[in-house]
Amino acid sequence: MKKSLNILFAASEAVPFAKTGGLADVSGVLPKALRALGHNVIVVMPRYYSIDKSKLDLVPGPLGVPMGPMGELWAAIYTTTLPGSDVPVYFIDYEAFFGRSGFYADENGFSYGDNDNRFVFLSKAAFQLAKKIDFRPDIIHANDWHTASMPLLRNTRFQYDEHFADSATVLTIHNMQHQGFFFKGIIDVMEVGWEHFNPMELESMDGVNMLKGGVAHADAVTTVSKKYAHEIQTAEFGFGLQDHMWAHRGKLFGILNGVDYNEWSPAVDPLIPAHFDIDDMAGKQVCKNALRKHFGLPEWEVPLIGFVGRFAEQKGIELIAGAIEGMLHMDAQFVFLGTGEKWAEGFFSDVAARYPDKFAIHVGYDNGLAHLIEAGSDLFLMPSLFEPCGLNQIYSLRYGTLPIVRATGGLDDTIENYDPVHDTGNGFKFQWATHDALYHTVRWAVDVWHHEKEAFAAMQKRAMQARYSWEEAAKGYETVYYWILANREITQYR
Ligand code: ADP
Ligand code: GLC
Repeated sequence: MKKSLNILFAASEAVPFAKTGGLADVSGVLPKALRALGHNVIVVMPRYYSIDKSKLDLVPGPLGVPMGPMGELWAAIYTTTLPGSDVPVYFIDYEAFFGRSGFYADENGFSYGDNDNRFVFLSKAAFQLAKKIDFRPDIIHANDWHTASMPLLRNTRFQYDEHFADSATVLTIHNMQHQGFFFKGIIDVMEVGWEHFNPMELESMDGVNMLKGGVAHADAVTTVSKKYAHEIQTAEFGFGLQDHMWAHRGKLFGILNGVDYNEWSPAVDPLIPAHFDIDDMAGKQVCKNALRKHFGLPEWEVPLIGFVGRFAEQKGIELIAGAIEGMLHMDAQFVFLGTGEKWAEGFFSDVAARYPDKFAIHVGYDNGLAHLIEAGSDLFLMPSLFEPCGLNQIYSLRYGTLPIVRATGGLDDTIENYDPVHDTGNGFKFQWATHDALYHTVRWAVDVWHHEKEAFAAMQKRAMQARYSWEEAAKGYETVYYWILANREITQYR
């Protein structure tokens, strides 16, 4: 019989408490899926200012967190469970670090100058918390650069702490672009020893690279699609760490994210005006009309193309900006939802002002509107330059909203190109990150909507049938956990 594992899952954000992107979706659901497989999971995250502590339970007694030259800092701990489960979430409450309006940056988008201290603090606090509540982790599962110091901390500061004697570490990379690059003085705060400041571990260009150190020390590294696991070993996608990833490829795995179909399904979604499913699509037209009404777009007999996401280079917004004039001459309408780079917010708002019948935008973060766009659009635009997994294209599939994507990372793993000869595919896909490639692919999709109605409907059916379950993903992580435990004698640094 398989051993039930104690898993400490640490992340900087998790739904429904704090979210800026897909990491939160994963952290809020994967722990529940692991729990459903029979494991004991706890989640540790910061108690940001926006998380109402009056709705949480206070864990008695303060938590001491040693921070090198800063001394020992004392945090409070709050707890609750992930909705619909008995998975405990522990919030590290420390006003000076987390009592701010933003999670990582101020309102003007400038990263906080002490993000190194803030997230080393979170990582160390997770260890101290495990001791305080007597939770002995078999697996410490860290996510992205914010908690990437945990594998190194396990192998150094907590190496001889018998509480963690049996703890192995996993680091999941959700995005290679953000590595946590800081002034090297943080080593003293981490209290890991300067012998780890070398190019094989923490050092990059005379600074500390948190993700690099995490990759070196984790017993296994995972990323969120198989394709991305290969891509990050190349110069185009490695953001400077490609050789490091290649060196550690023997412990690198790609596990595709799942979808919470209780939240993202047109059959049950409480945030859309009408439900629909494969055998009764009438509600989709109701959603399309509601979406147009929301944005004041006229009801023409044209496809509606949606975009939801961060206005960041990663998401291909420059590609879209370069191709948009041509796209606006097609028989189609566009609805955009997003925030991020200021130039893009201004640029696309200007497009909306110039083409009020064809292009509409909401600059901001709006979960309800994100659901309505998924439900009411015919096509979903996601031409990312890189995409570790991408959740929106998978949500789109379930709503019969066919994705138009670039063949990268999780987009390539989940979207199969339309093939009119064999009548297969669930979307439209292009290879090269050029304006032309995007323009022609959007044009192709718009033409299929207008002139190959049956093929379009058949593709919608195929798209809606596909399931990317968290159970499947959790089994992937479980396999990695058991793989580590079986191989731990021969893993590095032990
Ligand atoms: P990433 O994590 O790189 O931003 P993902 O596709 O993995 O990309 O996840 C993005 C998540 O954030 C999705 O759940 C998406 O619906 C949500 N999202 C992004 N931007 C917005 C926005 N402006 N309003 C509402 N939801 C958004
Ligand atoms: C990151 C990636 C995105 C992925 C998400 C969750 O934010 O950019 O592709 O879906 O993490 O893993």
